[in-house]
Amino acid sequence: MGTAKSQKLWGGRFEEATAASVEAFTESISYDKRLYRYDIEGSKAHATMLAANKLLSGEELTAIIEGLSAIEARIEGDNFSFKSELEDIHMNIEKALIDDIGPAGAKLHSARSRNDQIALDLRLYLRDQCDRFMVLLDDIRRAFVVLARNYMGRVMPGYTHMQRAQPVLISHHMMAYYEMFGRDRERIADCRKRINILPLGAAAMAGTGLPIDREMVAELLDFDGVTANSMDTSGDRDFALEFVSCCTMIQLHLSRLSEELVLWSSQEFSFVTIADKFCTGSSIMPQKKNPDIPELIRGKSGRVVGSLMSLVTLMKGLPMTYNRDLQEDKEPVFDAVDTVSASLAIMAEMLGNLKFNTEQMEEATKTGFMTATDLADYLVLHNVAFRDAHGIVGRAVAACIEKGCELTELSLEEMREFSPFINEDIFKILNVEGSVNSRISTGGTASVRVEEAVQTAEKNMGIGE
Ligand code: ARG
Repeated sequence: MGTAKSQKLWGGRFEEATAASVEAFTESISYDKRLYRYDIEGSKAHATMLAANKLLSGEELTAIIEGLSAIEARIEGDNFSFKSELEDIHMNIEKALIDDIGPAGAKLHSARSRNDQIALDLRLYLRDQCDRFMVLLDDIRRAFVVLARNYMGRVMPGYTHMQRAQPVLISHHMMAYYEMFGRDRERIADCRKRINILPLGAAAMAGTGLPIDREMVAELLDFDGVTANSMDTSGDRDFALEFVSCCTMIQLHLSRLSEELVLWSSQEFSFVTIADKFCTGSSIMPQKKNPDIPELIRGKSGRVVGSLMSLVTLMKGLPMTYNRDLQEDKEPVFDAVDTVSASLAIMAEMLGNLKFNTEQMEEATKTGFMTATDLADYLVLHNVAFRDAHGIVGRAVAACIEKGCELTELSLEEMREFSPFINEDIFKILNVEGSVNSRISTGGTASVRVEEAVQTAEKNMGIGE
């Protein structure tokens, strides 16, 4: 064996040491060190399998396991020096192991490549994130259910096109968000299924001739199965892309909610009061109290969408199997994880401190002809075709605008000028409460329906047990 000029673990065939500029450009340790726990967990399982298949002796296995635990403890105690000349988390740990325990450490990488190793680390990391995200999503869903319960029976305007449309219950609006974040949770749970397949054993990309047992590693690491094609496995990042897509959808939902909170907390709306501790002031205008949290969450959706775009673009031109481009997957994934989890947590906390100004909200339902559809429905029940009823009510509204009054302020005689089918009982229909409670269709805003929805949610979320 000649003496290699390169000190790298892969340096055998190299005549020259790597240029410092290249080391700086190619390193990933500055950010992939956050995967250390998964790298070590994966290596322990891999070593255990190697020993079971006689590729390591019992003593070697013990030395490797203990050596890896010691390295983990050093990293956790901030007692480990990560070196950029060792490129990434895999080689930093492997080199430390070889330095610490000698020849046994040099056997760990048998039947493995960094290509399947990084795929493993990332899957283990994202699996944990899925579990964490489901907890965070449940926290925020619980916050909506609590708000829905606390404001049960109180009304607000529902909007389409940001124009007052029909009165709804505040609780109905809150439960709409409960549904949105419920879908997000389902999506994460589903994404987890495809993350939770073992890639290790694909080796560089063609598999290995060494006698390994992938099913055993899968079992040790709690995976549901092993990937079926080594080439697909080493170049596949669909699972990461899927996870960041889920993140994008969550942030998008948070951003829509934020937009409403910004609007509602404005003086123009005054529908909600965001607790002081979640707001900041202006350095020049002493009167200001700004809704920074929702604004920042809304703003941060740009980062998450950006991460998704980075990954999509990263993947689009890649030929089969591993390409170094794939190293660029980590920062967008990490940034999406950090941004979305922080946004979810603070939003849930803020919702727990949110106050609805119910009088103001109720007041807002009284203008804007919000019960016009109810009048049309009333006519339909009196056998008027809906299109005709729509026209009749439209003319009534136009007359009210002309007079400067609301529908409810017209007398019965005035109303009957528009349709002879209108009778005294119309006044029960045209009030806000009657309007809300008439919407008893499944998923509608009537109190009975919303109460059912809240009760089901309380049961699902373990509230009041
Ligand atoms: N740091 C690399 C990455 O993140 C690990 C795999 C490197 N593989 C290789 N053949 N250079 O993708």
